[in-house]
Amino acid sequence: MSHSTVSLSGTTKLLHIIIALGMITLLAVGIIMSEFEIFALYDLHKSFGAIIFVLALARVIWRVKKGWPSAVGQMSQVQHMIAKAIHWILIISTVLYPLSGLMMSIGGGHGLAIFGFEIVAETLDAAGETVAVNASVGGLGHDIHGLITYFVIAAIVLHIVGALKHHFVDKDETITRMFSLK
Ligand code: HEM
Ligand code: HEM
Repeated sequence: MSHSTVSLSGTTKLLHIIIALGMITLLAVGIIMSEFEIFALYDLHKSFGAIIFVLALARVIWRVKKGWPSAVGQMSQVQHMIAKAIHWILIISTVLYPLSGLMMSIGGGHGLAIFGFEIVAETLDAAGETVAVNASVGGLGHDIHGLITYFVIAAIVLHIVGALKHHFVDKDETITRMFSLK
């Protein structure tokens, strides 16, 4: 059976690849830097994370305005529902990760600087110790940021496995249209 392939916009493809590579990198960097307490990486993690936040918000607005891309190829109802659910989990995670990171940093009194450019100043007491601006916001941000990690990684793995299945088993254009340069 033939099907027509609806091509994806440049905006969809560009935001997907930048955010995807950024998320995968920041997940790895986040785990490594906190596991091994490599504090030198924190500012870079936060800077790139804040940029992803802006791009992810732009993508959510793009989705609200343009809707989701329609699927190509043959899929069962169940397969379609799983793919959709995972797209929702992923797009939400691209906003929730940086949002919770910002809550943790700013709420915790650590402020925010993007590549050294100060956006929110850190709050220090007379002794030079960090004081929380809002400890419960900071604590909630920290909890969310840590708790969703393995759930999000599992969703990304399923997403990639699903994409590869389309390419190598179903042999449809799901992957090529998302990564095509035209
Ligand atoms: C690098 C490995 C990845 C591959 C090969 C890949 C592949 C794809 C493909 C082929 C589609 C189109 C699905 C369709 O036609 O219905 C898609 C859509 C999508 N992907 Fe990925 N993806 C990857 C990583 C990621 C990551 C890390 C995220 C986010 C954390 C992500 C989030 C999304 C979202 C939200 C969509 C829905 C369409 C959109 O909003 O642009 N992907 N992906
Ligand atoms: C945008 C995507 C982001 C992703 C995918 C991400 C991912 C992660 C991950 C996986 C960890 C390790 C969590 C753990 O195992 O406890 C982490 C730690 C951390 N992230 Fe992010 N992050 C992002 C953005 C941000 C932003 C925007 C900020 C702050 C402005 C931030 C601040 C931090 C801090 C301070 C830690 C260390 C927490 C600790 O030492 O307990 N992150 N991040």
